[in-house]
Amino acid sequence: MVEASFMDDLKQEIDRGIKELLWGKEPATLYEPMYYLFESGGKRIRPILVILSCQAVGGHLHNCLPAALSVELLHTFTLIHDDMMDHDDLRRGRPTVHKCWDEGIAILAGDGLVTLAYQTLLKNSHPKLTEVVQIFTNGLFEICEGQALDMAFESRDTITVDEYHRMITKKTARLLQVSCEIGVILGNGSEDERELLGRFALQLGRGFQIQDDLLDILSNQRILGKPQGSDLTKKKKTYPVIHFLQHASAEAIETFRSYWGIQQMKPDHLDHIIQLFHQAGTLDEVQKEVDVHFQSAKQALEGFPSAPGGRDLNLLLDSLWSRVS
Ligand code: IPE
Ligand code: IPE
Ligand code: MG
Ligand code: MG
Ligand code: MG
Repeated sequence: MVEASFMDDLKQEIDRGIKELLWGKEPATLYEPMYYLFESGGKRIRPILVILSCQAVGGHLHNCLPAALSVELLHTFTLIHDDMMDHDDLRRGRPTVHKCWDEGIAILAGDGLVTLAYQTLLKNSHPKLTEVVQIFTNGLFEICEGQALDMAFESRDTITVDEYHRMITKKTARLLQVSCEIGVILGNGSEDERELLGRFALQLGRGFQIQDDLLDILSNQRILGKPQGSDLTKKKKTYPVIHFLQHASAEAIETFRSYWGIQQMKPDHLDHIIQLFHQAGTLDEVQKEVDVHFQSAKQALEGFPSAPGGRDLNLLLDSLWSRVS
């Protein structure tokens, strides 16, 4: 991801805040696994969205920093539990929390992060704090629903594109929308601004998750920091798989099915799948779908042509559009 320097500055601010909350605290058996993923890397796009949305409507960093931290704490909780649910061993280039410690510790570290997220959110002193907490809580519930759908789809043979979109909106896009809406409210933006940036974030989130599905197939573990082909071994109903199953020849689908769900997928299996997806036009079509969502996110931003926050949201969008990890 090509990053503008303002993003580096914001990341440092966010990381300082997170470190203050977690580093060196006792008992270490709780706080070390809670802090571990923050030290492993990560893009911090959700807290950056909170801050830029707040600034786009004329607010300041100090109005929204605790809320920005709480969104990243919540996101980190979802990653720890998601890796257990997806049986993944690698996250941000290092062993996942449940591999480094065990599942009991990973459950507790996740619980601790959600609790800390609420504790931190409640530090904001704003007349609309109750509304902010409601938006945050509804978003968290939707992530749970999205994750439930994602898991249920693993054992279903066919999933429609509509069902897929519903699932990714809940598991991924809503938290981006929540981040922008909270930023707008804490920056004292208008209802129109909240609606507009919320729409921007939903489209960004959808594009972002479809891109994540594509990177699972096309990127490599060293760059991605996550196991390549993980979705294929779990028979996840990702956008590329749904497209392929709807458009490829019967013969190509039969070959794909002989690899699909294999636990120890070899690199040449993956290469063959990539080739099949390419021949079926799936890779191009998925990229087009990513582009449609990013383009429509960009359009939503046209309502903020000159404000500095709006310009920076555009830069963030561009850097995510071309991301490789
Ligand atoms: C990973 O999110 C989970 C998805 C919604 C695809 P990110 O790609 O934002 O993960 P980090 O925080 O940068 O590691
Ligand atoms: C991300 O789904 C959704 C959440 C973490 C809530 P994925 O399972 O695709 O995310 P990665 O690929 O493991 O980061
Ligand atoms: Mg996962
Ligand atoms: Mg998952
Ligand atoms: Mg994924």
